[in-house]
Amino acid sequence: MIKREIGRSGLFVNPIGLGCMGLSEFYGPATEKSEAIKLLHEAVALGVNHFDTAEMYGMGANEELLGEAFAGRRDEVIIATKFGPLRDKSTGQLAGIDGSEANARRAVEQSLKLLKTDYIDLYYMHRMDPMRPVEETVGAMARLVEEGKVRAIGLSEASAETLKRGNAVHPISALQSEYSIFSRDIEAEQFPMLDEIGASLVAYSPLGRGMLTGRFTARNRPEDYRSGAYQPRFADGAFEANLALVEEIKSIAASLEAEPAQVALSWVLGRGENMLTIPGTTKLANLKTNLGAHDLTLSPEQITALNTLADKVQGARYNEESMAVINA
Ligand code: ATR
Repeated sequence: MIKREIGRSGLFVNPIGLGCMGLSEFYGPATEKSEAIKLLHEAVALGVNHFDTAEMYGMGANEELLGEAFAGRRDEVIIATKFGPLRDKSTGQLAGIDGSEANARRAVEQSLKLLKTDYIDLYYMHRMDPMRPVEETVGAMARLVEEGKVRAIGLSEASAETLKRGNAVHPISALQSEYSIFSRDIEAEQFPMLDEIGASLVAYSPLGRGMLTGRFTARNRPEDYRSGAYQPRFADGAFEANLALVEEIKSIAASLEAEPAQVALSWVLGRGENMLTIPGTTKLANLKTNLGAHDLTLSPEQITALNTLADKVQGARYNEESMAVINA
């Protein structure tokens, strides 16, 4: 496995990292703490060094988990976290996005404390603040870099224009956005901009929130936030139509004696040298499967076949409210 640099940050990672959100929230109940810590340690033993979390995942619980898991072995891992979205502590509901310097400072101190560290490797603005220019937010983040609290800066779900403007204030090392065989909307505008500014893509939901792994069937739909109105691709009708598209991924996987998840990850990694992935899993067996994508090479014909699927996917990536702050 050859490591890839996050932008031009000097930070090198296994291009298959671990998205940690699902260990605390959103995809069913949180994993029991000692089990989660065990998985994080096993991931490091398997060569994973890029761990992605955020202030909002479990409202602090996810960062706290990573802090506990990596205390005493901080230098073995690259930790990425994010700030910006605020949540109502009693209901968990989203309560706006704050890209101000005051909020960046509050959030970074809280993250450092929960992560039990004195620096964050990669600090992202999680969603753009519609009320503030990106220059103000990146300017605030740049001061955290100067102070040694943050090593590299990223933006999540940002438009090409926002990336360019942010990068003029301080190098943007990574764009984190949803990207997979089913979600390719950032190719047209963000991809050329990533090349222009020398940034990486950190592809989240590279497995389509589990859909591309072939684990779901018409009778076996996930019963968590994916089944609600928040995720139109999992809604009645769209879900069945999208499962039919997964058959193509399954058939290519079968012909390679591989798993669909490996095909999905190999497809993303093959899009360019600046591609990084952070598939989420709570299970060691699935983590091992995902890392097996390193050994898989797709043929040009297989890639061409997979390239036809995104246009046929039914349902947006999120509901309308959340789509409003996507590619912003
Ligand atoms: P996200 O970035 O939002 O976490 P994702 O990486 O596209 O989304 O997919 C995560 C989902 O895929 C999780 O539900 C995860 O479930 P487990 O915790 O049970 O593993 C599932 N998943 C990940 N790797 C998998 C694999 N190899 N086979 C089957 N399901 C997998």
